[in-house]
Amino acid sequence: MKGPATGAGIIEIKSPSQLQIMRQAGRVVQELLEHLKRSVKPGVTTLELDELALGTLTRLGARSAFKGYHGYPANICTSVNDEVVHGIPSRRRLKAGDVIGVDVGSIVDGYYSDAAVTLSVGEISAEAQDLMNVTEDALMLGIDQAREGNRLSDISNAIQTKVEAHGYSVVREFVGHGIGTQLHEPPQIPNYGAPGYGPVLKAGMVLAIEPMVNTGRAEVRVLPDGWTAVTKDGSLSAHFEHTIAVTGREAEILTGSRKKPRS
Ligand code: MF3
Ligand code: CO
Repeated sequence: MKGPATGAGIIEIKSPSQLQIMRQAGRVVQELLEHLKRSVKPGVTTLELDELALGTLTRLGARSAFKGYHGYPANICTSVNDEVVHGIPSRRRLKAGDVIGVDVGSIVDGYYSDAAVTLSVGEISAEAQDLMNVTEDALMLGIDQAREGNRLSDISNAIQTKVEAHGYSVVREFVGHGIGTQLHEPPQIPNYGAPGYGPVLKAGMVLAIEPMVNTGRAEVRVLPDGWTAVTKDGSLSAHFEHTIAVTGREAEILTGSRKKPRS
């Protein structure tokens, strides 16, 4: 989501029955991402991916969380190379060497789920692969900090520390968010900041954590389509996101499974 701006607001604690529905919404997102992963290859257009997503969501009895959101025109976001987030599916054809961020969201029985991965198209450069690995690892390290009793900015700090240790930069203009009966609920979750600040995390909070990382400078601009955010310097960008539930122990990843960071 776009941020930071207002920040404040009550962070809802989901009941066990609400969490049960959010698990279903998360499973839909997981299955959809699996389909999309198999379909991303040279020659495919991003609009074809969008159509596949609509078909899968419909078959699973879900709706897109993004279509119509503040007028967003498609079912998923597809962000290629220097596109950071919110790329609109089009007749653009993927080619070998591209990286594509695929961001998807579902609504099941009124509850939302949100996740993203960045995928390689054919053979990609070593730098692109490293960027993807570091961004995914940063997400996992952030999720590791999403523990009852920790503070919100412990997540932010873990992500920033990992990213900057590899010489990459964290995008500031977009942040993670709470999620539930709305796509974006409090709190906003920046991917940077000192540890030990912000609300104390409690079991039942559901958060969408989503680092966006550039090989070059952090600054982004939005294209005239009003949505697509690109790096100002044209450098490559990657984006990974999971919806997670805070518990008494390690977080429950609603949109996938835990992956050990590579380093
Ligand atoms: N994961 C993105 C976000 O939280 C997806 C939003 S796409 C939009 O901002 F189209 F719905 F805005
Ligand atoms: Co999100």
